[in-house]
Amino acid sequence: MSTETKLTSEQVVQITRESNFGTWRFQKGWNPMHIVDAEGCYITDGNGKKYLDFSSQLMCTNLGHKNPAVIAAIAKQAEELAYAMPGYATTARAELSQLLLEVLPKGLSKFFFTTSGTDANEAAFKIARMYTGKTKIISRYRSYHGSTSMSIAATGDPRRWAMEPRGKGQGIIFGPECHCYKCPIKHTYPECGIACADYLEHMIRNESDVAAVLVEPIVGTNGVIVPPMEYMPKLRKICDEYGVLLIADEVMSGWGRAGEWFAMNLWGVTPDILCTAKGITSAYVPLGLCATSQKIGDFFQDHYFAHGHTYEAHPMTLAPAVATIKEMKRLKLVERAKELEPFVKEKLEALRAKHSSIGDIRGKGLFWCVDLVKDRKTKEPFNTYAEKVAGKPLLVDQIAAKMLADGVTIQAWVSHFVVAPPLIVTKEEIELGINTLDKWLHLADEGCVSAVVPESTSATSDS
Ligand SMILES: Cc1ncc(COP(=O)(O)O)c(C=O)c1O
Repeated sequence: MSTETKLTSEQVVQITRESNFGTWRFQKGWNPMHIVDAEGCYITDGNGKKYLDFSSQLMCTNLGHKNPAVIAAIAKQAEELAYAMPGYATTARAELSQLLLEVLPKGLSKFFFTTSGTDANEAAFKIARMYTGKTKIISRYRSYHGSTSMSIAATGDPRRWAMEPRGKGQGIIFGPECHCYKCPIKHTYPECGIACADYLEHMIRNESDVAAVLVEPIVGTNGVIVPPMEYMPKLRKICDEYGVLLIADEVMSGWGRAGEWFAMNLWGVTPDILCTAKGITSAYVPLGLCATSQKIGDFFQDHYFAHGHTYEAHPMTLAPAVATIKEMKRLKLVERAKELEPFVKEKLEALRAKHSSIGDIRGKGLFWCVDLVKDRKTKEPFNTYAEKVAGKPLLVDQIAAKMLADGVTIQAWVSHFVVAPPLIVTKEEIELGINTLDKWLHLADEGCVSAVVPESTSATSDS
């Protein structure tokens, strides 16, 4: 077939599924949707059908699609300087560095640019180990930190299992997550006195050789889990006491998503290292960031910084980040996410009142979870992590497929949905998304879902 000939949607899908790997899934049954256009809060498929992007793709297109200023920045950078090796200084690099000093938690002032959240975390692990001279990294079970060897080893969720024991990353140990709705150590907040943080301290004391504690400040894919106010300050204190670094993985929770530039601001806690990606360019180009304290940065004045990539500080990734930050400021999107929080909360609370299958709703800003349970008392989920990786049909995927047919895309994971629309979303669009979920939640309420794998589950591929 000539490449000049325009491919039909069917051909695009067929070629893709036959010649590409579909991520985090059994390949059988992958039926990717052909996306041809996207604007604002909507994406359009090959048949011209529009869908509300109710989870910002993979919780990343925070500015919405087709922002003209970011697109212009990409075009301008391509014309001026499409590539420069990392050893050079570029205007985009300097401009972005200046802006990062404005928006990051104060004290984070040394930057390493990557091309994903995964390799931002990889950089953090290496920096933490070089700086402390220690090895172990404490992560938490309900977490996702990336797909490469170390970052998947540091991931608590079941995507790690396929790599064990063959590819088990050295020196990663897991502690309990801070999840008050389903406390892993069966305590009740606030009487617990944040026992899950005490347990991390216990681990640090008994392990020795701990370089860092790694947390998603708000756990993302695994359920938008927001810790209580005391948790992060307490963790900061513990880390300081034992000379352990605190690494905040803000790949998903950053960039206004939680109603702050970064979720750590919710508790006024500055980590030693902050990793981010996704919203930094609204995902228009692949950029990640590993930001460290000045103290860590200074250490490498006289110590070899043993890390780098050909694409580090790639100008094509940095210029759109400059435009993204400027657009976020101009449109006041961080403020907007905060302002819309009570509206989303009220709507989701009403949804919970109506549907017995919703065990919990929780979130911050425009970052929410609708957590489904078979029974509100036992909090038993509809499906388990083990079922997810075994490729079993999941109730949430079935509901997501129904919503897709109705023109709304939503991220589904094991037994919950992540509601995270672009930060430009209107109240009407939020209502549309929630009403569509409302329409199909009876499938969960009834608790009797057929075991047929929905054709379009790939529209909810995992982040
Ligand atoms: C908290 C967190 N960390 C790391 C990653 C990995 O980022 P990437 O997919 O850009 O490699 C993700 C991706 O969803 C994430 O949510």
